This record gives sequence, structure tokens and C-alpha cells, in this order.
Amino acid sequence: MKDFSDKVNLVLTKYNLLGKENQKHNHFIITKYKNEKDNIGFHNDKDRDFEPGSWVVIVKFGEARKFEFQYEDKTFWSKKLDAGTAIFLNYETNRIIKHGVPDMKEKVGMSGSVVTRSIKTVIPWDTVHKNIEKSNKLRNKNKKE
Ligand SMILES: [Fe+2]
Repeated sequence: MKDFSDKVNLVLTKYNLLGKENQKHNHFIITKYKNEKDNIGFHNDKDRDFEPGSWVVIVKFGEARKFEFQYEDKTFWSKKLDAGTAIFLNYETNRIIKHGVPDMKEKVGMSGSVVTRSIKTVIPWDTVHKNIEKSNKLRNKNKKE
């Protein structure tokens, strides 16, 4: 596990060299859409723990998929985005407009994205390892019962 966290730290360090306005991205989410039916409805990202003024960066992978923005329940931007496209969404904009990946009528293969953010709460790797260990022990205990 230590080897894995070292690799993650290396990726984060490299990624942050590309950061906007010296923002440190420290939170990554990977999404996967198996086909045209997989989707996520309009939403605002939960920003309770975002660094104020920071940016969310969404980098698309796989086959081209539609991405949409909505303001006051009206879609005002809808575009099919190719792999490698990056969307920069700032903290304030995320509060005002919603975004989503709608289902599509035409056949689409696998796609997805990596979403990066700057969050305030940093959990040290030692604590992460301890929590994983605790969770595994609990899971094993529940399996036996
Ligand atoms: Fe989102």
C-alpha cells in the first residue's frame, strides 16, 4: 500500500505542475460510463470542503459523450466532447449552474473522466492505511457472522 501512495503522490505532484493559479489538486474522482445508457443527471458538485476560489477540472476519456450545463432548469450548453477535452469549472460557477452527462440515443462505447479538485481536509496516508485496515477487519468479521 505504501508503494501505491508514493505513486499517487508522484502523479499529484506532476499534475499540480499544470495547475491553474498555483492551485493544488488533492482530490481525484474517476468516473466510468459503460455505454450510452450510463449517465449522471444535472447536479452541482458538493462544495462543503472545496478550497474557496478553487477550480474543478474534468478531463474526458474514452468515446465522445455529451456534456451539458443548465441554469435555472434550462439547458444552455450541450456538446459532445472528445477524449482529452478538459472542462474548468470554478467554485462560484459550480454553485450557480448545474452540469450533467445525459444518456444518448446513439450507441456509445466506454467513456469516463477524471475529476480533480482542491479540498481543505487532508487525511494523512498513515490514517488512510489504518482506516482501510479497520474496514477490512470489520468486513472479514461480518463475513464470518
Ligand atoms: Fe459533477
